[in-house]
Amino acid sequence: MDSPFGLLAELTYRCPLACAYCSNPVNLAGYSGELTTDEWRRVLAEARDLGVLQCHLSGGEPLLRRDLVDLVAHAHGLGLYTNLVTSAFGLSRPRAEQLRAAGLDHVQISVQADEPAVSDRIAGTPSFRRKIEAMGVVKELGWPLTVNVVLHRHNIDRVAGVLGLAEEVGADRVELANTQYYGWAWRNRDALLPSRAQLAAAEVVVRAARERLRDRMDVIYVLPDYYSRYPKPCMGGWASRQLTVTPNGDVLPCPAAQSLPLPRASVREESLERIWAGSPVMSAFRGTDWMPEPCRSCARRELDFGGCRCQAFLLTGDAARTDPVCHLSPDHHLVARAVEAANAASPGGDRPLIPRPHRVRRVER
Ligand code: SF4
Ligand code: FES
Repeated sequence: MDSPFGLLAELTYRCPLACAYCSNPVNLAGYSGELTTDEWRRVLAEARDLGVLQCHLSGGEPLLRRDLVDLVAHAHGLGLYTNLVTSAFGLSRPRAEQLRAAGLDHVQISVQADEPAVSDRIAGTPSFRRKIEAMGVVKELGWPLTVNVVLHRHNIDRVAGVLGLAEEVGADRVELANTQYYGWAWRNRDALLPSRAQLAAAEVVVRAARERLRDRMDVIYVLPDYYSRYPKPCMGGWASRQLTVTPNGDVLPCPAAQSLPLPRASVREESLERIWAGSPVMSAFRGTDWMPEPCRSCARRELDFGGCRCQAFLLTGDAARTDPVCHLSPDHHLVARAVEAANAASPGGDRPLIPRPHRVRRVER
């Protein structure tokens, strides 16, 4: 068994935004009892002892945690590389300066589109202007900046403008991530899935931008797996290199795994080490022994690990099936049908998006 390399610390599910593609659980109301500062401190120390090197502080909106500066300082003191994954709504200059002094290494800011009205509509909150201001502060304070844009039917046609925006704010890296269908995105899948023509047009723009910006900005393009022949090697394999701790202390191999019918493991009851090594949730799909055909005898089984367990569960009701994205899967028709519908729908998206609810509106400044 390998040590985990990365910890995704989901500090809170509270968020001032209401994106319809949010990967947080749809039963947000069922979550309460966020870990305390001391509990997170212990989790970070246990993660470090387990071999974790990178800590992604995420949510929801991690800036809503009053103890964020404290937690960053603690992680930094443990020698962890810290990355703040944020909407930047609430990243004021004083807060940013405190985070800088605490040792935060990297900032990733999401934006929903290049145009203020479109971005604010998708975010469900007027936030574009503050995001751009925050990006300026991040660069001024000398952090490396990643601009993250989740792509879908309602913004993928604007990818040239998005790249221009990333260039304008001086991003070191832009991550154009086609939506992964979990949480709220799964609920909104048919309204979010782009057409093949939209994807083809976006790819031409991205390829040209990569060439043009080669020396200035990394352009990462996360492919939409519904349109791929083979599935993604999700999380680098189940409980192989990554682990997630949710706001209430549940430990999972990936953030979406809370929708799976697996026994819970919590840092409130056991150490991270015991959970990583021996809990049923971690061992459920570790390695290749659990695999059914066609994965079991497939030459790619060590490359993609049979795809994504959460996607298999959402699409088929059985997390142990081959990811239906794979064209060899007996359930591939489930993906093919969704793709067919996306291509038959009128351009621009004709279905309404269901936004995830705001859990809080006030953001700590
Ligand atoms: Fe991957 Fe399984 Fe498809 Fe082979 S059959 S390519 S291992 S998902
Ligand atoms: Fe959970 Fe892929 S998102 S295994």
